[in-house]
Amino acid sequence: MTRVFSGIQPTGHLTLGNYLGAMRRWAEVDQHRADSLFCVVDLHALTVEHDPARVRRLSRQTATLLLAAGLDPDVCTVFLQSHVDEHSRLSYLLECVATDGEMRRMIQYKEKAAKERERGGSVRLSLLTYPVLMAADILAYGADEVPVGEDQAQHVELTRDLAVRFNQRYGHTFVVPRTTLPQVAARVMNLQDPTRKMGKSEDSGAGVVYLLDEPDTVRKKVMRAVTDSGREVAYDREGRPGVANLLDVLAACTGGNPESLADVYDSYGSLKKDTAEAVVEVLRPLQARHRELCADPAYVEGVLRDGAEKARALARPMVDTAYRAIGLLPPVPEPALSAAR
Ligand code: AMP
Ligand code: TRP
Repeated sequence: MTRVFSGIQPTGHLTLGNYLGAMRRWAEVDQHRADSLFCVVDLHALTVEHDPARVRRLSRQTATLLLAAGLDPDVCTVFLQSHVDEHSRLSYLLECVATDGEMRRMIQYKEKAAKERERGGSVRLSLLTYPVLMAADILAYGADEVPVGEDQAQHVELTRDLAVRFNQRYGHTFVVPRTTLPQVAARVMNLQDPTRKMGKSEDSGAGVVYLLDEPDTVRKKVMRAVTDSGREVAYDREGRPGVANLLDVLAACTGGNPESLADVYDSYGSLKKDTAEAVVEVLRPLQARHRELCADPAYVEGVLRDGAEKARALARPMVDTAYRAIGLLPPVPEPALSAAR
């Protein structure tokens, strides 16, 4: 059976971009057709300046939202990265396979490091090595497919390179995974600046729809979305990124196609209005389920405990195999009782 792995960082409140680009597919498609693991990657949240209490809160909230979005612990595995030591164990081995040049070429590293420096802060070493930890997340489970939004494609490419290199040097150990992208909304853009992706760690939330935004807040944000001075509705991602983004979001929410939807509208106003309502309707059941789950924190904790146990059982033998392959001796077993006597 195909194995699927994906992760999400507890670095902020989850957005419509997370949902349309990743989570919805995990819930609607992946978990039902593949043996799937979905991980709240809390170790990744420590790569930028962080507040421990906030990371704890967001880790719980992110896990709760994954369940609210429809991940079903009876058919998939949901867990926290830090509960399974194998991720860090494998990450170190992969650091011995990756090169520093490779790390410095990662677009997300360049962007985040520049932002951190602009703020006058320093760049954590873990921000540079983060794609290696992400590769470990994926390779520890022998995942065949990694369903992510477009911004993560480069990291999955790197994961493939590391898997191939390790296998060539030390013998076949890892499955070489591939990225799967959604057909529409692989990159939902910020409503206030449609040249940037809708990200959860934005400083201003005006262009970002959060999964827990009230319906009226969603309507306001969508109605105020930046478009352009044209009037005719056309799907042109380069020339008219704002309108194209709204068409993408509408298409993703209603199951339509952005190009054909463009023909249906003759004004930006009506496009925005329908997009706002479509988003509100997509979020409604998720928010209702989130409220129920928040009332039952013991249930969520139980899911995470069982999830970590299942994940550990899968990752342990794979990572042990990699330890042996790369040249590390197995720990010396306890002498048998009879031999000790
Ligand atoms: P992150 O928020 O970076 O942890 O991302 C979690 C998942 O959501 C990854 O698969 C991302 O590619 C996806 N994602 C995040 N932001 C967007 C966006 N604006 N559009 C599409 N997918 C996104
Ligand atoms: N780096 C990913 C992001 O920022 C999150 C992530 C960590 C991930 N490990 C992963 C995604 C493994 C897919 C598979 O979105």
